[in-house]
Amino acid sequence: MQMIETLTVNLGERSYPILFGSDLTGVVRDEIARLMAQGQKVAVLTDANIAQAQAKAGGAMFGDAPLLVVSPGEKTKSLEGLGRVLDFLAAEKIDRQGVLFAVGGGVIGDLGGFAAATWLRGISYFQVPTTLLAMVDSSVGGKTGINLEAGKNLVGAFHQPRGVFVSTELLATLPAREFAAGAAEVIKYGLLGDPALLDQLDQKPLTAATADSRDVAAIVRRCCALKARIVEVDERETALEGGRALLNLGHTFGHAIENAAGYGEYLHGEAVAIGLCAAARLSWKLGFIAEADVAHVERVVAAHALPTRLRAPLGYEALRAAMTQDKKVRAGGLRFVVLKRLGAAATQKQVPAELIEASFRAVGAA
Ligand SMILES: NC(=O)c1ccc[n+]([C@@H]2O[C@H](COP(=O)([O-])OP(=O)(O)OC[C@H]3O[C@@H](n4cnc5c(N)ncnc54)[C@H](O)[C@@H]3O)[C@@H](O)[C@H]2O)c1
Ligand SMILES: [Zn+2]
Repeated sequence: MQMIETLTVNLGERSYPILFGSDLTGVVRDEIARLMAQGQKVAVLTDANIAQAQAKAGGAMFGDAPLLVVSPGEKTKSLEGLGRVLDFLAAEKIDRQGVLFAVGGGVIGDLGGFAAATWLRGISYFQVPTTLLAMVDSSVGGKTGINLEAGKNLVGAFHQPRGVFVSTELLATLPAREFAAGAAEVIKYGLLGDPALLDQLDQKPLTAATADSRDVAAIVRRCCALKARIVEVDERETALEGGRALLNLGHTFGHAIENAAGYGEYLHGEAVAIGLCAAARLSWKLGFIAEADVAHVERVVAAHALPTRLRAPLGYEALRAAMTQDKKVRAGGLRFVVLKRLGAAATQKQVPAELIEASFRAVGAA
């Protein structure tokens, strides 16, 4: 018998459970049967890669519930992609009691969540994450949205799911590069709030090849617990200091890299990995951590088959311009997440421009 564990995200009337198990197929199937027995309509959203790679699990969970299969990739998280999902919900006559299951990585979770937030002014949805990144990060916390030409995640809503089913066996078919990208977010959690997790990753890196399902499950649970605690106290990222913004460790640098290199050149997690190294460098320059700590961060990142530096140089000017366009930067002035030590982060305002530049150059900016 597999162990099924539950973690609750406590948000008052928006509270919901995250269920963890190696194979939650039966649990999801039972939930759908329960919903249908109550007269609620169920619809399912996934992408073509997942529909193919996980056809058996998909069939076992959803039977013949209406299914929309969209193209894989970030481009689907767009106005056009949203239109397709809304047209699908309309065609299936999903009413206000209807429920959407978003089965996929962050693209499907963000798109499906946003469609659920807007269809009939909001219906319930469940997340069934299928990438490591979605399991540890995007499926939890209720941030949903799509991209515009003008930038990533510019349109969205806070809309918490009704529940999250983390079935770690789904990771068996995830490409190794995507697995590594998710590991960057895991390292992020260790750095920002869980020194024991960081030690564990240092001693036994989490890679697609070496991770047995039990290791992954325990680590995913730990990351979700950390994210849940942060989201519970700052659901809408309005805290003036710390709070949900801490989850952006490495992301101000990382988003600039993704943007300046052209979306698709680096996977999000790869850019974040480099961003974590840059953020560590900045934290050292600000006098919070030792130079040896920077090397420690680089070692953990490299051990997870992730880049510590840009693969090809990017001009600093382009990175700086991309950084100042970032929506989070625009909203709150230049605010960085820095490491106070390995395992504890803080937000930091008024970081001298030359330290940011030096940190970018240290990871390969030209
Ligand atoms: N809402 C949030 O809080 C939040 C947090 C972090 C990231 N995000 C968003 O998440 C997105 C990135 O998510 P992602 O990294 O999961 O990418 P993704 O959804 O594009 O999935 C990565 C690739 O793996 C494939 N795939 C997924 N699961 C698979 C499986 N089990 N087997 C085989 N192939 C599989 C997908 O088809 C895709 O090609 C970005 O749009 C980012 O903005 C959101
Ligand atoms: Zn991220």
